[in-house]
Amino acid sequence: MPPDAHHPLHVACIMDGNGRWAGRRGLPRTDGHTEGEENLARLVRVAVQRDIGWLTVFGFSTENWRRPRPEVRHILGLHEKLFGRVAELNELNVRIQWIGRPFDSREARTPKYVQRAIRKAIVDTAENTGMTLTVAFDYGGRAELVKAVEGARSTDAGVTPETISQHMYLPDLPPVDVVIRTSGERRVSNFLLWQAAGAAIHFTDTAWPDFGETELDEALALLDA
Ligand code: IPE
Ligand code: IPE
Ligand code: MG
Repeated sequence: MPPDAHHPLHVACIMDGNGRWAGRRGLPRTDGHTEGEENLARLVRVAVQRDIGWLTVFGFSTENWRRPRPEVRHILGLHEKLFGRVAELNELNVRIQWIGRPFDSREARTPKYVQRAIRKAIVDTAENTGMTLTVAFDYGGRAELVKAVEGARSTDAGVTPETISQHMYLPDLPPVDVVIRTSGERRVSNFLLWQAAGAAIHFTDTAWPDFGETELDEALALLDA
């Protein structure tokens, strides 16, 4: 469904391929994640220039905890850094949000220091009125749907598309217009399964650390077709 001229665009990125990017350069996977975080900071600037209303990125999945401990620790540190970019976000008038398993849920594993960085960034950018950047961390589309259906069941109306939407982690997150998946795998991840119904998909072989403005424009061009 092509968006109308006034509908703020929602772009969702599955930021895949950091490990392969590093491997091709003979670097440790952790260097790929470091470069991936830098690239996200660059892409946020471009997205603001393109007047994108909502940018949602998959930073770490509910399945990614199975990775080797040192890699997970490195990625946690990078999210602390990302949510610490408050001055940059304020300069760009970007509001940051987080989507993932609630910190108080039984399965959630996000350590306290990352929780603190997330909470602080949300508060410190809450007044910004430009783009909304939503970072998915400890996120899984299936876990979100399970929670939403449980919530919907407890309403008078019961389980309907509307009550499910109202019980998603972030009920105000609009439908996704285009999903981008980097680094060559042409399949859906466990990402925004409900919100991305009907979205266009841009697959690219480019690894996430190399994904730049030209490719973002290619993905956006899918919406003009
Ligand atoms: C994406 O890059 C980042 C995360 C999933 C945290 P990968 O680490 O999955 O990189 P590849 O897919 O192994 O190249
Ligand atoms: C997708 O990357 C998750 C993130 C980008 C955080 P993975 O490398 O974990 O890919 P899947 O789970 O196989 O789709
Ligand atoms: Mg991967």
